Amino acid sequence: MAGGFVAFSGDSPAFQAKMTVYVFICVVIAAVGGLIFGYDIGISGGVTAMDDFLMKFFPAVYERKKQAHEDNYCKYDNQFLQLFTSSLYLAALVASFFASATCSKLGRKPTMQLASVFFLIGVGLASGAANMYMLIMGRILLGFGVGFGNQAVPLFLSEIAPARLRGGLNIVFQLMITIGILIASVVNYFTSSIHPYGWRLALGGAGIPALILLFGSLLICETPTSLIERNKTEEGKATLKKIRGVEDVDEEYQSLVQACEFARQVKDPYRRLMKPESRPPLVIGLLLQLFQQFTGINAIMFYAPVLFQTVGFGNNAALLSAVITGSVNVVSTLVGILLVDRTGRRFLLLQAAVQMLSCQLVIGIILAKDLGVKGTLGKTEAMIVVILVCVYVMGFAWSWGPLGWLIPSETFPLETRTEGYALAVSCNMFFTFVIAQAFLSMLCAMKSGIFFFFSAWIVVMGLFALFFVPETKGVSIDDIKDSVWKRHWYWKRFMLRGA
Ligand code: BGC
Repeated sequence: MAGGFVAFSGDSPAFQAKMTVYVFICVVIAAVGGLIFGYDIGISGGVTAMDDFLMKFFPAVYERKKQAHEDNYCKYDNQFLQLFTSSLYLAALVASFFASATCSKLGRKPTMQLASVFFLIGVGLASGAANMYMLIMGRILLGFGVGFGNQAVPLFLSEIAPARLRGGLNIVFQLMITIGILIASVVNYFTSSIHPYGWRLALGGAGIPALILLFGSLLICETPTSLIERNKTEEGKATLKKIRGVEDVDEEYQSLVQACEFARQVKDPYRRLMKPESRPPLVIGLLLQLFQQFTGINAIMFYAPVLFQTVGFGNNAALLSAVITGSVNVVSTLVGILLVDRTGRRFLLLQAAVQMLSCQLVIGIILAKDLGVKGTLGKTEAMIVVILVCVYVMGFAWSWGPLGWLIPSETFPLETRTEGYALAVSCNMFFTFVIAQAFLSMLCAMKSGIFFFFSAWIVVMGLFALFFVPETKGVSIDDIKDSVWKRHWYWKRFMLRGA
């Protein structure tokens, strides 16, 4: 395909690759899967703060919200309300295992198409919901879409990207998540004044990207890895030429064939994942998910409007602040795209841990000191809280957010890649579920202490990154074992035993 520049794939100078227009189109279309995920993340907080929605499905919460003397931190604490948000992630958790099977057996592309079908049905049910049952069913189907999409899209992106640009192209997925969250907060802002159906429009909006993914995915190719893995070697080679934009793809093709042959000998990938040799990517992949969620990011993303109302903003001001944090999230993710293949992964993880920690601590102190249980924040303090939330989101957006998806997609060897990645995705969904389900109750029980709780986690994850996360910048995706694990001070011991 057209244009671009000749580049070499990572540290393998033999792999010639241009950044082709075709790859660019594939990346954009596939990443729409991330946009839908982000939209679903961002829309819940706004919808659950809309009175029409609460009156219809959660009248008890609505009544409690109206009581002005109610404890600041507890007005939204309701298990069913949290279930509305969290059911999606529980469904996604289960779905990612099925998605791993379809990714291996049918390919990455059909898995994305399945995701778009789930999304469409889910959107229909949730936005047209006549009762709680339909509403939750809709969320569950959306969750299936998320499980299938989040499994297939990052793998797809990592596999079609030339190694040298893999980090940046993979983060396009995260960029689309953040754009989805931002669009959702703008939609929340406008639909909140449309009575009584604003929430239906808000939930229905996800139908548009779902349609784009469905039709767009007809245009994109299957990844060469997936084709070769399923014995479609000629097609695999032709696709490789097409996406790399050069005729001479022999070296890369041979390395893919070898990786696939080796992968084929592994009859039970899940058992292989339990072997010592798989320990480094497995432990890192799973812990990154726990850590990503225990940064506390989704306490802010899901519940930003609710959180801002809690600390004393009015309805609209709260929704508007969510738009502001959403914009910061998008712009900072762009910064991540530019930096990840330059500074490397480790630098971003460590730098951001310090930044996020400082913000959380100061927010906690302001809230503990000035908000109390029934007071409200003064204008200045409220502004400072919003600014600190923005700086915190900034740090997350160029580090733990995108790297939580990137690192597991590039560190498992081919023979356990879809399975290992599925475990990572489902682990992410599990902890996202935990935060979504528990945050409002934790806020009610721990009050401002919740920010110190997340701070403690940030210290732990920073130390983990410092000692246990190796640099994978520019390393060819199928060469991680030799170039990374075998040379790492700690992880190499597992390689020697298992090799
Ligand atoms: C996380 C989401 C989070 C989002 C925020 C993603 O990487 O997985 O849980 O809401 O980043 O931008």
